[in-house]
Amino acid sequence: MGLATVNFYIIELYPNPIKTLSNRDVVSSNHRVDEGVKVEAFTKLFEDGSAVVNRCVVGDLDNNVYIVTSKSTGESILIDAADEGDYLEEFAKALKVRTVLETHGHYDHIGAVEHLRDAGFEVVVGKEDAFLLPSYDLLAADGEAYEFGGLTIENISTPGHTDGSFCFYLHGSNFLFTGDTLFPGGPGATHFPGGNFGKIMDSLTDRLFNRFSDDVIILPGHGRYTTFGSERPHLEEWALRGD
Ligand SMILES: [Fe+2]
Repeated sequence: MGLATVNFYIIELYPNPIKTLSNRDVVSSNHRVDEGVKVEAFTKLFEDGSAVVNRCVVGDLDNNVYIVTSKSTGESILIDAADEGDYLEEFAKALKVRTVLETHGHYDHIGAVEHLRDAGFEVVVGKEDAFLLPSYDLLAADGEAYEFGGLTIENISTPGHTDGSFCFYLHGSNFLFTGDTLFPGGPGATHFPGGNFGKIMDSLTDRLFNRFSDDVIILPGHGRYTTFGSERPHLEEWALRGD
């Protein structure tokens, strides 16, 4: 992704984008350094008839932060307030975010939770992971959905990486946000406290692979996206491989 593309996209989103870029040093491509902290700028990953999915990468573990925007109203939802609160706040306000959904409570996914709550955003997390957050507003419930800008995003409880892990499915589109539950090449790690390999494989099989068709796009908490079609042939080999 070249800088020109990034500039173009931010200009596309914001009538006055210069402030966003001028107070940070451009170091290469779309990686910028501000007082020693790396931020990979928000860029558009996907767009369909109803929604745009923007992503940025923040923090020492290169966490993905997603903002999903309704094309009909411009309202958005943010997934995983991982780090860099100032930066996320700026974009969240510009893209009319009200709610932040947390895929789970591991430290690398929650670094900007307090900042965004202080800025007025409401934070949602699974009950079993709530104790890992400094604070929160609402507990996610399996099957419950949030409405924003005419779009619906559903909470799907997928314990295993942590007990309170959730995936979020954008109805009407083919996007599933999986946090650290599902990546290209397999399930997330289960050797952390609260992790359980049997549980994560049950979650993947019963709650995700049995439900979603091959064209659904998997957007994980780190790294690149994939699809159920790409990953489905490997489900059995993951189970045999073990933790
Ligand atoms: Fe995690």
